[in-house]
Amino acid sequence: MKIVVIGGTGLIGSKTVAILRQGGHELVAASPNTGVNTITGEGVKEAVTGAQVVIDLANSPSFEDKAVLEFFETSGRNLFPAEAAAGVRHHVALSIVGIDRSDNGYFRAKVAQEKLIVASGIPYTIIRSTQFLEFLRAIADSSADGNVVRISSGLFQPIAADDVAANVAEVALAAPRNGIVEIAGPERAPFNEIVARYLEAVGDPRKIVRDPEARYYGGRVEERSLVPLGEARLGHIGLDEWLRRSQART
Ligand SMILES: NC(=O)c1ccc[n+]([C@@H]2O[C@H](COP(=O)([O-])OP(=O)(O)OC[C@H]3O[C@@H](n4cnc5c(N)ncnc54)[C@H](OP(=O)(O)O)[C@@H]3O)[C@@H](O)[C@H]2O)c1
Repeated sequence: MKIVVIGGTGLIGSKTVAILRQGGHELVAASPNTGVNTITGEGVKEAVTGAQVVIDLANSPSFEDKAVLEFFETSGRNLFPAEAAAGVRHHVALSIVGIDRSDNGYFRAKVAQEKLIVASGIPYTIIRSTQFLEFLRAIADSSADGNVVRISSGLFQPIAADDVAANVAEVALAAPRNGIVEIAGPERAPFNEIVARYLEAVGDPRKIVRDPEARYYGGRVEERSLVPLGEARLGHIGLDEWLRRSQART
């Protein structure tokens, strides 16, 4: 079957494309680099024609509040009419656990993206994931003030990109849920402890300070803001195993 992956050249997109290609499906890795742009509309109609499944793994080039909201809204407005005209039977998108429980600009944009999906009339499955392990460095950098990194003590349950892609591929081949599936990593621990373990393992000398008031991209983090509250599919790769694999690759 023909499957289009919007953002198919990105971190999760490229891994998802590789998994589904192995299953013998016809894959289109759609992105500006391959001539498909959901913001300008360029190449969108052509890409989705004949597709049964569209998986949206695109991300905004800018994380600034207004830019990211505009990205997901414009993208949805260009994508859904093209998908409806092409008779797409399943739209899959990757969202984030807790976007409706913590207040930051990026999360608000993901809420807007989810609303457009539900309103589109196209059968869908939204996968809400916890933060990727690959994102830990960016999190530390965004919370750093010189040599000090202030991180909340709320619970954190990061997942490896390989586990995310495996789940996205599986969901894309199953029937649409017209609902949300949550995924998370195998380990749950205080946010500050996980970031501290990461920095120590990669030899980053910055000091972690446990700060219950520390914000996550501007949003307050309560004990369970960033972890699934109900049932979630768990990945297999924990922080230590992910570090071993990353070090083996470099
Ligand atoms: N980071 C996290 O911890 C986390 C957690 C849960 C969910 N998510 C979600 O996971 C999704 C994928 O994230 P990622 O880290 O894999 O993203 P990424 O590596 O930054 O890749 C972004 C992809 O989007 C494409 N793209 C950018 N502008 C586009 C446009 N105008 N039209 C079509 N494609 C466009 C890029 O194409 P080019 O290569 O051509 O630029 C690239 O393929 C995002 O929706 C994000 O919100 C992230």
